[in-house]
Amino acid sequence: MKTKHTTRLAATRLVDYRPPAYRVVETELELDLDAAETKVYARHQVRKNAAGPNSPHLILDAEDLQLGEIHLDGKILTAAQYAYAHNKLTIFNSPAEFELEINNTIAPNKNTALSGLYASGEMLCTQCEAEGFRRITAGVDRPDNLSVYRVTLRADKTTMPLLLCNGNLVERGELPAGKHFTTWHDPFPKPTYLFAAVAGELACRENRFVTQSGREVALRLFAAPRDIDKCAHALSALKRAMDWDEKNYGREYDLDAYHIVAVENFNMGAMENKSLNIFNTKYILADPRVATDADFENVEAVVAHEYFHNWSGNRVTCRDWFQLSLKEGFTVFREQQFCADRGLVTCDRIADAAFIRDAQFSEDSGPMAHAVRPDSYVEINNFYTATVYNKGAEVIRMLHTILGADNFRRGADLYFSRHDGRAATTDDFVAAMADAGAADLTAFQRWYSQAGTPVVDAHTEYNAARKTFRVTLTQHCPPTPGQPTKLPLVIPVRAALFDHNGRRLPAALHPDTAAACKMDYETNDPVLVLSRPRQNFCFTEVPRPPIASLLRGFSAPVKLRQRLTARELATLFAHDDDPFNRREAGQKLMLKFLLPRIVQLSADEITPAEDLDDAAPPDDILDAVTAAFAAMLSADADPGLQSKLFALPSPDYLSEFIQPIDPRAIFHARRELNRHIAARLKPQLLQKFHQCAAANTGEINPRQIGLRALRDACLVCLSTLEAPEIDALAVSLLAAAKCMTDAASALRVIARSKLKNRAALLDEFYQRNRDEPLAVNKWLGIQSRAPAADTLSRVTELTRHPAFDANNPNKVYALLLGFSHANPFCFHHTDGAGYRFTRDWVIRLDAVNPQVSARLVSAFNRWKDFVPKLRAQMKTVLEDLARRPKLSADVAEIVAKSLQSDTN
Ligand code: TRP
Ligand code: ZN
Repeated sequence: MKTKHTTRLAATRLVDYRPPAYRVVETELELDLDAAETKVYARHQVRKNAAGPNSPHLILDAEDLQLGEIHLDGKILTAAQYAYAHNKLTIFNSPAEFELEINNTIAPNKNTALSGLYASGEMLCTQCEAEGFRRITAGVDRPDNLSVYRVTLRADKTTMPLLLCNGNLVERGELPAGKHFTTWHDPFPKPTYLFAAVAGELACRENRFVTQSGREVALRLFAAPRDIDKCAHALSALKRAMDWDEKNYGREYDLDAYHIVAVENFNMGAMENKSLNIFNTKYILADPRVATDADFENVEAVVAHEYFHNWSGNRVTCRDWFQLSLKEGFTVFREQQFCADRGLVTCDRIADAAFIRDAQFSEDSGPMAHAVRPDSYVEINNFYTATVYNKGAEVIRMLHTILGADNFRRGADLYFSRHDGRAATTDDFVAAMADAGAADLTAFQRWYSQAGTPVVDAHTEYNAARKTFRVTLTQHCPPTPGQPTKLPLVIPVRAALFDHNGRRLPAALHPDTAAACKMDYETNDPVLVLSRPRQNFCFTEVPRPPIASLLRGFSAPVKLRQRLTARELATLFAHDDDPFNRREAGQKLMLKFLLPRIVQLSADEITPAEDLDDAAPPDDILDAVTAAFAAMLSADADPGLQSKLFALPSPDYLSEFIQPIDPRAIFHARRELNRHIAARLKPQLLQKFHQCAAANTGEINPRQIGLRALRDACLVCLSTLEAPEIDALAVSLLAAAKCMTDAASALRVIARSKLKNRAALLDEFYQRNRDEPLAVNKWLGIQSRAPAADTLSRVTELTRHPAFDANNPNKVYALLLGFSHANPFCFHHTDGAGYRFTRDWVIRLDAVNPQVSARLVSAFNRWKDFVPKLRAQMKTVLEDLARRPKLSADVAEIVAKSLQSDTN
């Protein structure tokens, strides 16, 4: 398989942006679809762009195409009139306005990169974002070229009875030799990346939605016939999303049909192609027999996400790929608001914040750190990141907090009306918000251009005589590649005060402070807006010494350093009414045990980033932790929330506080804490487990999902005791499983246990589920994540198992990323075997699918931050990879930037 292979790394830079020299204003395509050889005919109406650079030559993007005849205004071009090299098709001396016809062929069944037109099982489908269109035919493949499309699809009628494209179906009919065709017209001008076509034999599930203005929309979901009975949840989620966007953003759907196709081979989650979304089956199929509770909620979130793109992405699109967060950050934010309104358990504020801290903060600390609006890239596919998506959403959320919900809505309306039908920038978005809210957002804009995670230090002082409480906040941001110095950011810190019994204290603000604060709309909390390197905020009439609950709701994507005693943390853990901060208090309390323990357990010299001198003796901390958990568990709170309050600090979160990172010491310290808790709270945990298990009906609703989550949190904690009776609980949970959540939770515990019949139980699960690929992927993922001595050999064995397929991204993610990214205990074994195994798969996969391989290789990104022995071995892997002659641009960029980061 031929893919983009580069030896030099050519960066694209934001400062070099120029509008296109030529525009394609209308595109007509004809595709004779065939898996082995698809014939493409394209007719472009081309206009010289007065606003663009003056070039006599039209330069089109074209990758891996077999070119046929080219006609300009009806006349065939001679070999001297064009050139095709280095993925560019140049038409020399083009007129100012002309029609260009191109014929080419492609081989979808050889397209294992899954970009462009490819075969997924028996069907054909496309993926054009970011730069896949050029792998179908030559075009102006950049998002600021909007064109109206008319497309004819032809194919064999028996093997591909369904032919779908964007827009409205205008014609269909029979053709000779058992073929048929459909013709589509999409009235909305769109960039190439939103083009889509699908052909295959698919079943359909249909519903309808009437928009607020009375337009009737046909909603059709297509999937393999054997999967169509698993599509009801996705279809109803689509209706909820459509309704929500009308009510909350006044955004209505704009065509008569909305189609979603589920495909098994897909690099990412899903794709928002205009009126023809293409989804990874993982984010469509939801049946309690194969999908867990988290899957159900993810399906709902991703269906909504892609639907919301119809406005934030499609009607208003991105000028260039540096603006990716314009659509992704905003759409993730809209998705999060939707999920919050729906009361989803697994996709809530705590989960969103945890994801930022685990994935995005660690991205910021590594060699690929970039701003929400990056200023340069080698391979754009490497920038579909937690920073662009999730930090981008946090930036929008801060705007929402600072402006207030009403101004924010006015700003969104203004943004959509100003830029409808056009390509825009993040500056345009912020300008619309500033205009609507009559606010100066100049300093706020730095969130888009400045990379790195800001650190906010909080110092507090209570004056008993004056009854005042002063909060001093300072900010700094560590350097990131290419950005050695940073400017201060505008950081909204939502705050509340509690007394030492956990009662809320009034939070009156000193007039000077009030001027620098906002009132949070929903909670009525004051929001301290930190905009200078150091600022004082003063509360008045504070009757008793308070405990400050800061950064409530994770009001900014920063690291907050605030010194609280174990007692204060326990008080907040018991009483804070902000779920995020309540959990955070518990996490910080556990850090007081874990950080010194990690230092002790490591053979290497580790320095905690935090000064631990006020740490209480470990036994006192353990007493405080267990007392806090016991009280929390016996309280009659929402089980879903309880399950989250109960979670131990993640390895990524812990890595924030210690240097260098010793993954095994982290693992052992966490396990030890888990064991202490399990031993001390065994009766309570068992009781909770049984209570939740008894209430389980297998139904999918927030209450049931919460109960199962709490049950599983108890089981996971108890399982660290390695006691036969706990293993037996898991075995019986598996045997009596009412839904996939039950089975997968039980299997996860079993896979980590020392049960004698472990292998038999795993095999039984496989045999029962072997015809359901998504269930088989869970089986692969559970095994690759198990922190057991034999995991690597098991994973190696599984790469040869019929259930594994290196061409299917879901399987690679489950097995190989499960191992390299989600199993630090095994991946970072000091013998380096996990590293070498992963390296070999990076090389193998790079020839198959560079996007997938690039994700795998990122396991080595932060090599510099690990203890010396690991660090040296990870570096060796990267150096070995760097020497390979045929690396894709995707992997080469990551490897080169990782090695470049070796400054000391
Ligand atoms: N735009 C898609 C989203 O909403 C992302 C996506 C889907 C994508 N497939 C892709 C990005 C392939 C790059 C390559 O999140
Ligand atoms: Zn998206």
